[in-house]
Amino acid sequence: MLKIAVLVSGGGSNLQTIIDRVSDGYLDKVSIEYVISDTKGAYALERAKKAGIRTLTYDKKEYGDSLSGKILETLKGNVDVIVLAGFFSIIKKELIDEFRNRIINIHPSLIPSFCGKGAYGIHVHEKAIEYGVKISGCTVHFVDEGTDTGAIILQKSVPVYGEDTPKQLQERILVEEHKALPEALKLISEGKVRVEGRKTYISAQ
Ligand code: GRF
Repeated sequence: MLKIAVLVSGGGSNLQTIIDRVSDGYLDKVSIEYVISDTKGAYALERAKKAGIRTLTYDKKEYGDSLSGKILETLKGNVDVIVLAGFFSIIKKELIDEFRNRIINIHPSLIPSFCGKGAYGIHVHEKAIEYGVKISGCTVHFVDEGTDTGAIILQKSVPVYGEDTPKQLQERILVEEHKALPEALKLISEGKVRVEGRKTYISAQ
């Protein structure tokens, strides 16, 4: 079993997808051990509690700079993989080092477009529309010391229409996120993802 912790800050629709895919058997080799929020009252926590998953809140206002250390202390030796599913705090080197190539993030654009510092939430989609791209999408990647710079595991694309609002584009991409994240987790749980430098190689079986 691949033991995972899911880190969240907000609504948790991606968390919900993982919960659903574990319970319908698609993620049959994954078990969600913890959901940790950096924000008190995040709706994602309700979703986790409903599913009977252990939840912890390390509020960023309270923990500040020691947030990563606290997460490390909690998860070291207790989980195999950490999933950032709409987690907006910065992860520090100590945590990345301990979980090298074992932390994944989902980002709502086709990296390396519209990512990096300041590219989060609705801003990502505003930038894509402003730029006039015809295709956007989402990326699941490993987390390294940079912002959205780690090796890419998989990407899914959607069309961008001339009359799109950022909200409409966000919703269209979210549908794909809900497929991409479970797919990436399934591949990892089946030992099919190998990382070499900044590339991943996915084995067919
Ligand atoms: C998603 O768009 C994800 O790509 C980004 O944050 C958002 C989280 O949404 N990192 P939700 O909380 O999973 O609904």
